[in-house]
Amino acid sequence: MSTTLSARGATDMSGTSAPSTTQAPAHQTVRVPMVDANLPRLKAKDVSVFYGDKQALYDVSIDVPEKAVTSFIGPSGCGKSTFLRCINRMNDTIESCRVLGDITLDDQNLYDSSLDVVELRARIGMVFQKPNPFPKSIFENVAYGPKIHGLARSKTDLEEIVESSLKKAGLFNEVKDRLHSPGTGLSGGQQQRLCIARAIAVGPEVILMDEPCSALDPIATAIIEELIDELRENYTIVIVTHSMQQAARVSQKTAFFHLGKLIEEGPTEGIFTNPRDKKTQDYITGRIG
Ligand SMILES: Nc1ncnc2c1ncn2[C@@H]1O[C@H](COP(=O)(O)OP(=O)(O)OP(=O)(O)O)[C@@H](O)[C@H]1O
Ligand SMILES: [Mg+2]
Repeated sequence: MSTTLSARGATDMSGTSAPSTTQAPAHQTVRVPMVDANLPRLKAKDVSVFYGDKQALYDVSIDVPEKAVTSFIGPSGCGKSTFLRCINRMNDTIESCRVLGDITLDDQNLYDSSLDVVELRARIGMVFQKPNPFPKSIFENVAYGPKIHGLARSKTDLEEIVESSLKKAGLFNEVKDRLHSPGTGLSGGQQQRLCIARAIAVGPEVILMDEPCSALDPIATAIIEELIDELRENYTIVIVTHSMQQAARVSQKTAFFHLGKLIEEGPTEGIFTNPRDKKTQDYITGRIG
């Protein structure tokens, strides 16, 4: 069980002081409350993940604030992608993977056996490290989700969804004259925005992004970062990034993972200017990772 204890003067997310204890728990997550944050609708509690016998995550508990960007940082192999994939049950597709603990959206358990996983992945969309448009036209890439989820009543409806999704992803003006050309013919940065438009088209509440800019040049990265900043007005966003500058630029909340444990989480500014845990400090100053 993870233990939410106040560490080095921090308080837990509820803002209450933790009880004193004489027995140190296996690990303590340093939690600094997000004073102005929107209420969390997405919550993870004591999430542990195993690949076969190998444990990749240990009792991770975190609240993700609504309509804000939360970034997951930490050295390679610390479990960021594993945890991100737990949130929309992408780990279900890995046979050896076992997930324990609870993840809830609006208090609905996302691991409830009666839950429709395809529907869940529309509510919680995902954008991957490498842009992965379908081998279809730009239009069809965005229209595919609304079609399979029955979101458009007519052809005009569908065209409107495609157009507005491309606009929200900041891509429409660049592709409006070639909607029926292959999505794979776009530049890397445009393809990544196409993938964001594809995720947006099915009306998600949460968008998960796993290193969405790592395959992009600095200009395409800046465009995606700007877009993420705009999207947070309407969506809850979780981004995994290896770039501390990116986490500092785009996110309001940051969570630092190390060796499968959530070491510290709180307002981004605090994590970067006043980390409470030595491991966080070592990571952000480049001493580990
Ligand atoms: N499909 C898998 N099968 C077995 N082990 C896996 C699998 N995916 C990840 N792991 C292991 O789980 C641990 C966490 O991996 P994960 O990919 O979540 O790390 P990460 O923090 O995203 O790393 P990176 O920054 O390199 O992407 C690692 O030890 C990794 O080897
Ligand atoms: Mg990863």
